[in-house]
Amino acid sequence: MEERINIKEILNKYKGKKRELISLLQAIQDKYGYLPEESIRQLSRFLNVSENEVYGVATFYESFRLTPPGKHLITVCMGTACHVRGAPRVLEELQRELQIKEKETTKDGLFTLEIVNCVGACALGPIIIIDNQYYGQMTSQKARELLKKYREKERHGE
Ligand code: FES
Repeated sequence: MEERINIKEILNKYKGKKRELISLLQAIQDKYGYLPEESIRQLSRFLNVSENEVYGVATFYESFRLTPPGKHLITVCMGTACHVRGAPRVLEELQRELQIKEKETTKDGLFTLEIVNCVGACALGPIIIIDNQYYGQMTSQKARELLKKYREKERHGE
């Protein structure tokens, strides 16, 4: 069942000023993992700005998500250091294996793929992050094996 969206608790911590919009969006995404449609409606009323304006800001920033993420979030670092060490090949492999592109979720709802620029661990690049767990010195083969591991865990209901 879909979680009921009520951002009152979050709104209570804010004054209702337009300049708070970005940090409110961040707080909502932290809570739900994305920005549910209903939260945008409540936010627009609270700040007295149009829903269009809220959507405009939410879509302008790469980090905001308007659809629920998959069960596992895979983030590929495409910052310069990771890039020169082969991140594009890792990304290609993940896209091929998962049959999705950046910001998309697999049909089974298991994986979402995202790209970021530098996560501050350049010496270990290429880096991918799966559910907050960092994996360094990534290669396409290692990425394939990792996916296999996660898929197997899912099959066994872990
Ligand atoms: S460029 Fe990937 S961690 Fe810095």
